[in-house]
Amino acid sequence: MQMTAESKDSAGVASQGGAKREIFLPPDRERLKEGGTPHVVAKNFSIFYGDFEAVKKVNADILSKYVTAIIGPSGCGKSTFLRAINRMNDLIPSCHTTGTLMFEGEDIYGKYTDEVLLRKRIGMVFQKPNPFPKSIFDNIAYGPRLHGVNDKKILAEIVEKSLRKAVLWDEVSDRLDRNALGLSGGQQQRLCVARALAVEPDILLLDEPTSALDPKATAKIEDLIEELRGSYTILIVTHNMQQASRVSDHTMFFYEGDLVEYAPTKHLFTNPRDQVTEDYITGRFS
Ligand SMILES: Nc1ncnc2c1ncn2[C@@H]1O[C@H](COP(=O)(O)OP(=O)(O)OP(=O)(O)O)[C@@H](O)[C@H]1O
Ligand SMILES: [Mg+2]
Repeated sequence: MQMTAESKDSAGVASQGGAKREIFLPPDRERLKEGGTPHVVAKNFSIFYGDFEAVKKVNADILSKYVTAIIGPSGCGKSTFLRAINRMNDLIPSCHTTGTLMFEGEDIYGKYTDEVLLRKRIGMVFQKPNPFPKSIFDNIAYGPRLHGVNDKKILAEIVEKSLRKAVLWDEVSDRLDRNALGLSGGQQQRLCVARALAVEPDILLLDEPTSALDPKATAKIEDLIEELRGSYTILIVTHNMQQASRVSDHTMFFYEGDLVEYAPTKHLFTNPRDQVTEDYITGRFS
């Protein structure tokens, strides 16, 4: 098992986009190799808006049940890459991809891939909490109903289980019939996580899930990620490097569409191999 899918020699020199680039091989690399199963595999995967290559020939294995942070300056392609994983970019007409992106051995962009089923297995939570203007119960029950669950008792069980997993149950169990828009921003964001969990996904994509939240609500989301760690494959885009180092096992650093460095988080933050990574994490540019 390799963290990046392209070939490399024992010194960790890999060819990416034609140029030789050193891939960081940390001391606990062997442990990761043994413990990690690739869940999403990108091979020479590029994403274009028209002629503009926003994400360039990415080669990476995202490991199952780990938390992977995606960091990098504004406009480097973080959201574009994240959205590609459950084909949310399909909604943008000029957007197309080259190379391959595989999920559990299936081509995400394959001719026969059903994107509704794909999004059931790969859920997403956005920067701004976006509950439906419905009751708390109906927000969570929405996905399961869409996928054919109509039994009231089963729906009630799913709602409770999802809210418990999202560490929100105790705060809302007595007001499930109230409008979700009446919740605080932090509660709304945990509701959005619960809504994503209700259809039993395998992967959760979180695009700056705390950037609209205050520090207290942010801490609750980080605690929630900790709760979910090990049960789901989680990818989180964040501009907050403390957050990346607190919550993630692995970190990807993107710069101008290139995946420059991808390593276990503690290594990337303490001993980056690439100068541009170091400049970014030490705040020389943002
Ligand atoms: N719908 C679109 N049409 C055309 N270009 C786009 C579109 N969305 C993003 N881009 C461009 O693609 C590049 C990557 O954008 P993306 O939103 O993925 O960056 P990001 O790393 O998520 O940035 P931020 O940190 O500001 O959210 C940028 O140059 C952006 O202008
Ligand atoms: Mg973004």
